[in-house]
Amino acid sequence: MRVHWWHSIRWRFALVSILVALLATTLLAITLIVAINYYYSVDLHQRLTDIANVTGQRVGVSYAQSGSLIKAVNSVLPDTPAQSAQNQDNLLIILSVHRPPVVVYPHYGSLRQRPASFANLLIAATDPTARKGDYTKLTTALIQARQGTTTIDQIGTSGPGTPPRLFVTEPIFAGGQSGSTIVGVLIMMPRSAAENTVPPFLETIRAAILLASVVVVVLAAIVAILFSRTITRPLARLTNTAHVLASGDYSARVKTNAQSELGELANTFNEMAGRLEKDVDELRQQEYLRRELIMNITHDLATPLTAIAGLGESLVDGVNQNREDYEATGRIIVRETLRLRRLVKDLHLMAKVEAGAMQPQPKVLRLAAVVDEALAVLTPEFERANVEPRNNVPYDLPPVWADPDMLMRVFSNLCDNALRHTPPGGAIMVDARQQENMLEIAITDTGKGIPAEALSRVFDRFYRADASRQVNTGGSGLGLAIVQAIVEAHGGRIRAENVPQGGARIIFMLPAAEQAPIWSYTTIPVR
Ligand SMILES: Nc1ncnc2c1ncn2[C@@H]1O[C@H](COP(=O)(O)OP(=O)(O)OP(=O)(O)O)[C@@H](O)[C@H]1O
Ligand SMILES: [Mg+2]
Repeated sequence: MRVHWWHSIRWRFALVSILVALLATTLLAITLIVAINYYYSVDLHQRLTDIANVTGQRVGVSYAQSGSLIKAVNSVLPDTPAQSAQNQDNLLIILSVHRPPVVVYPHYGSLRQRPASFANLLIAATDPTARKGDYTKLTTALIQARQGTTTIDQIGTSGPGTPPRLFVTEPIFAGGQSGSTIVGVLIMMPRSAAENTVPPFLETIRAAILLASVVVVVLAAIVAILFSRTITRPLARLTNTAHVLASGDYSARVKTNAQSELGELANTFNEMAGRLEKDVDELRQQEYLRRELIMNITHDLATPLTAIAGLGESLVDGVNQNREDYEATGRIIVRETLRLRRLVKDLHLMAKVEAGAMQPQPKVLRLAAVVDEALAVLTPEFERANVEPRNNVPYDLPPVWADPDMLMRVFSNLCDNALRHTPPGGAIMVDARQQENMLEIAITDTGKGIPAEALSRVFDRFYRADASRQVNTGGSGLGLAIVQAIVEAHGGRIRAENVPQGGARIIFMLPAAEQAPIWSYTTIPVR
């Protein structure tokens, strides 16, 4: 999938941060410019009035001595015409009280150069595109100054971002005393106001603010881009690891030092990967076991079938000469068929266990009696093997809470194993004791025991510790698996160990029944 750069979280985050920085800086810059404009105007207002006052007074005083406005202006403002017209921050104009007024200051080289009227002078000094209408206020102020009133006002209109074009008009009194004869009119305004330009001071400040804003925005952009990497880097690692995981390598984990949400995400991801790995391992293991199971089943079914088929053929071919031979072959066929039937029954039982269909029907049972019954059923086998059965289960033990048929199956499977591994003259002991609310039952034989490395595996399906898997020597390896399934279905546990004096011991736990009256015990009929 093609992803454009502007779709990536990193760039989106960076862009948003830059936009926010830009907006904040712009707002700040505007606020600053407006505030500076305001204070500049207030200060200018003050300064302009002060200077105009002082100048007006000085010209007035000088007028009282010389009696001529031109002389007074020349003595107070002795500058050359060029200087007086250009090199001042404030533009100063002094007019006579004649009608129309004569411009006494600034000086112009010749009479012809002197503009005829005040408005012409101003228009010449200012932006040629300025409208004449803007000067109405100035004209009015001039008329008022002739009548003795000082005015401070502005040319045109100004906004919060542009400085006002302030001017002061004031009468010049003879002797500088207000109330005496008005001899002239003074107009003063900043040169920038006359020329309709931004004052140099404001220009400098504006440039500085603009520069600072640009620097701030650039710095914010760099920081945002770098910082957004710290967010997207762990995400990129997570994505890479997810790709590795998707390709089938379930051992992949994210390594990140990220804290907070991203760290938590990485940890959760790792947990998920861990669980996935475990599940996949388990599935593989189960698949392996399934294959092994099918191999074992087919092998165990094939062996007796081969024997039966071989023997059947020999019967048909008439290889057996006499009746004894026929009988012997027949007996082997019956034995192998019975073995097959048992195997199929065991397999069926195992399948039931695995499907969770084996539900015990527990009853209150006296354990000593159950063991007696089980041993009684197996008496012919014990006699044939010349092994002594010993029931050491105390009669006063609390009753057991178990399914009688299943419990018989447990004892018959365990005794069958013990008989198979106990040499003649040996014994098989059944012991039991109470362990809290469970009964611990142990079946010990005097055989050679279970090989140490096989102890943990004897309960596996089809596992046989004996090296040879010959048909004659042993069963299918399902006996203990079935016993374990029965014990666990009762909520108990089972384990195998060897006793120090030689022999194997299988120990399992079954739940003890609540104390019940003796007549409620179930008895098992001898089969
Ligand atoms: N009392 C014992 N002494 C020594 N080894 C034993 C004893 N009981 C079990 N084993 C070992 O554990 C293996 C598994 O026993 P299990 O009862 O599951 O299978 P089996 O007896 O071989 O076959 P099956 O019980 O299905 O006829 C046996 O093959 C045997 O090697
Ligand atoms: Mg067995």
